[in-house]
This record gives sequence, C-alpha cells and structure tokens, in this order.
Amino acid sequence: MSRKAFYITTPIYYVNDVPHIGHGYSTIIADVMARYKRFTGYDVLFLTGTDEHGQKVEKAALEKGLSPQEHSDRMVEPWQSLWAKLNISYDDFIRTTQERHIKVVQSIFEALYDKGDIYKGLYEGWYCVHEETFYPESQLVGGCCPECSREVEWLKEESYYFRTSKYQEALLAHINENPDFVQPDFRRNEVLSFMESGVQDISVSRTTFQWGIPVPFDSKHIIYVWFDALINYITGSGYLQDEEKYRKYWPADIHVIGKDIIRFHAVIWPIMLLALGVELPKKVLATGFWTLGGEKISKSKGIVVDPNQLIDEFGEDTIRYFLLREIGLGLDGEFTKDAVVRRINGDLANDLGNLVHRTVAMMMKYFEGAIPEAGEFNPIDADLKNEALSLAGAVEEAMGRIDIREALVRIWKVVGKANKYIDEAAPWALAREGQTERLETVMRTLLETIRIVALHLTPVMPKTAAHIWDQLGQEGFETLSFEDTKNWGGLASGTSVKKAPPLFPRIEIEEDK
Ligand code: MSP
Repeated sequence: MSRKAFYITTPIYYVNDVPHIGHGYSTIIADVMARYKRFTGYDVLFLTGTDEHGQKVEKAALEKGLSPQEHSDRMVEPWQSLWAKLNISYDDFIRTTQERHIKVVQSIFEALYDKGDIYKGLYEGWYCVHEETFYPESQLVGGCCPECSREVEWLKEESYYFRTSKYQEALLAHINENPDFVQPDFRRNEVLSFMESGVQDISVSRTTFQWGIPVPFDSKHIIYVWFDALINYITGSGYLQDEEKYRKYWPADIHVIGKDIIRFHAVIWPIMLLALGVELPKKVLATGFWTLGGEKISKSKGIVVDPNQLIDEFGEDTIRYFLLREIGLGLDGEFTKDAVVRRINGDLANDLGNLVHRTVAMMMKYFEGAIPEAGEFNPIDADLKNEALSLAGAVEEAMGRIDIREALVRIWKVVGKANKYIDEAAPWALAREGQTERLETVMRTLLETIRIVALHLTPVMPKTAAHIWDQLGQEGFETLSFEDTKNWGGLASGTSVKKAPPLFPRIEIEEDK
C-alpha cells in the first residue's frame, strides 16, 4: 500500500536582503512538521524557496549595480546556507526565476484571461514597494503604508485585473464550512471580517518596471509579484509538469506563513485556485512575529538578530527548541538572549542534559555501561513507564493541532518525572546496599524512558536526539519511526551506553550587572 502523502510549504522569501531570525521561525515550524510526518510514516514533500521578482528586488539589485538576475543568484546563497545550518530538511527549493515556475505562471495567467477572469483596465492608486502591495486610500495610515509605515507611491498605469470579486461568495462558504482552513481561529475571524467589506478585483500586472514574468500575450506587462509568488506552491507540487506527482501531493496540507501575509494566502490565493477549478490547500497557518524591544524584527528597519551568529553561539537545536517552546502558535514573542540562556540552563542543561548525563554516569559506575535487564516493577517504576508510554498519544494529539509547544511541554513533563524518579529510587543507595537486582530495574527503567524521550525529540531537535541515541549505545537511528515510541523494551540487549560530554553546557550569566 502506498504511504499517505503530506505536502507542507513555507513562504518563499524575498531575496532583496539576507535572512533574520524571524524568517527562520516559519521555516523551522514547517521543518518540524515535515520531520514529524515522515517519522509517522507519511510520504512528505516539504517545499521552501525564494521570491525573486518584483520592484523591491529590482531596486535592491540596482543599488548594488547588478542585474536583478545576478543579484538573485547571489542572494539565494545566504538563505540556503542558513537552512543547511538550521538543519532544515526541505525536499525542494523553488526559485521564482526558474523556467519550471515561469511556465506555470504564464499558463495560469493565460487560462484565467481566456476564461474572462483576467481583464484589462487602468490602475490608479497607491502602492507600497516594500510590501509589494496595492492599498486603497482608506487603508493608509497618515498617508503611509499601514503595514510598514513607509511612503507609498501613486501609480497610474494600464493593468490587467483579476476578477477576485466573482469568487468571494464561494470563498466565504469554503471558510465557513472548513473551520480549520485558516488557523489559529482568531486569524480566521480576521479574514472573515476583512471579507465582509467586500473583495475588490486586484491589479495583477505592471508596466512601469521590468523585473517580472511577462504576460504571455502582452509583453508590455509583467505579472504582479504576488500573483507569481503564490503560484510557487502549485508549481512545486508538479502542476502542469508531472501529473503523477501533482495528484499525489496536491492539495497542500499546510501553508505555513506569517500573519502579515494572511490576506494573500487566505483570500487571493484560494480565489486564484477557485477560478482555476483547482482544490484549495487544506490549511493556512499564520504565525506571529518575533519582536525586539516590542518591534517586529525586520532587516530593513535595522532591528535584527543574526541567526548565523546565534547558531554559532548556541547551536541549531537550541535555537529550534527556543523558538518553538517560548511562544504559542500564532502569538508574538519578544526575542532576548536572556530568555534563550534561561531555556538553555533550565530545560536543556538542568532537565534534559542532566537526566542523560546522570544516567549514563551511573551506568558507567555501576555496570561499566552494560545495559541490564529489568526485574520486578515497583509502583514508581510502573508509573514512569506509563508516563513515558502515554507520551505518544499526547504528542499525537498536540501535533495534530500543530501545537508543537504543547508537545514539548508534554515531553519535558516526562523528563521532569524521570529526574524525580532518580531522586526517589536513589540508585546510589541501592548500589551501596548491594541491591543489584533492584538497581538493574531502576537503571533499565531510566534508560527506556530516555530512549522514548530521545525519539520524541527527533522532529524538533534532530541532532540532540541522535546524540542521545549514541550515548545509549544504540544503532540505526535513521530507520526509527514514531511507532518505536510506543514500545517498552526497545533497547537492544547486550548493548552498552557510552560516556559523552554534557549535551548542553550551562551558560554562565553575569549577575549584578
Ligand atoms: N515573499 C513574500 C512571501 C511570498 S509567499 C508566496 C514575503 N517574503 S518575506 O521574506 O518578506 O517574509 C517571509 C515571511 O517571513 C513572512 O511570512 C513573514 O511573516 C515572516 N517574517 C518576517 N519577519 C518576521 C518576524 N520578525 N517574525 C516572524 N516572522 C517574520 O513576505
């Protein structure tokens, strides 16, 4: 039987600049979901990429004295190298300047034109280059862009329009019938109230600059960058290129996006698909923003946290863990190094690191590392075992809601319980008193619990999970699956643990500054 497919995407990132930590966030969320789904047996397609057309990228290229294509070719590198550094397991990286994408965009534009859903008109109104968005006068704030507060430009040019208004009733019905389509709920309500004021036809071509995909039947026009960019999701699924692949992966299961681009994803994109007669994605998941001093982290505002530096300092798994554990999905979070250090010293060093380190050290001391069999269980052993085994259900439930934070909270509950178990079972006293059988049972119970915890950590902290697996002296980490978290007794007999440096050294904090 063929495995069930799962298709997840990130926003495609503008190449006008290098990434900051806020960009890393959506990509990490998508990566964790992709890894989790693979782990649970799905055939996953995970797509990310770069958004390379438009006035903003053209402007950035011109400022550097490069052609937009040269500029884009250079600027892809910092994105790809950050994803490698963050251990992002994407299956495909799409660039909107690729031939495969250009062809699909042009075909769609032409099909909608032929259908009468794209028509020629005159656009007169405001445009923010930074947001690559048209705004009606009523939406401006103090005459500036409502999103980024920059000055807007007045445009007056011939333009093709997309008959968005024609499909608003159909989209409303879809959103109402599929409460999961836009998540979290409060974002769905935002979309619904935005739609109440009526969806206007949108301008989908420009004539006053060059950097874009030409309208196939009217070369004076280039296609609006958002119309082009949104199509990346379906290009990536094989649409109009590979029928079998497209049938397998489309509709996408989740589009992970930031809250600032929700209207494009929850209104414009589904309407484009409705017009094409293509099935809508199952879910649009909007995340909140990372802020610094209360302001959205944003390269162009100079409010940045360099992700490369952070990874060098703290390690990629720590950053992945921090971003996912610190805030609930959809909410904003303030990024501070203090908060990162608190998580490292608390959850990672004190709780998880210590559990593994203490257990391995005791194993070396009492059994020269050799993993023992367990004897009769006491209630405290059974309790820890049940807690560890019940994690699978709890994690499944949380991940089903894409509540990665809750999954981590549940995993750490077991870590806490295991640390408490060490204190209660007091292996050192058992060793001292020569209660070898009891000591064997306690150590085996701890090791099995750590095995289960390590497996559950795989999607969020793949490197750490592999390290723990190594310290447990086990092999075949790559071939494990979520099912393995449901068994007790999975440690191979005759194996021995290996001593290693602490997983997460504590970070000294300078007090009383
Ligand atoms: N190119 C468009 C997306 C097209 S998708 C078809 C775009 N690119 S972007 O590079 O400006 O932003 C990409 C994503 O990063 C957006 O979802 C945005 O919300 C997210 N973030 C940018 N700054 C962020 C934070 N400070 N915090 C969290 N996410 C942030 O928009």
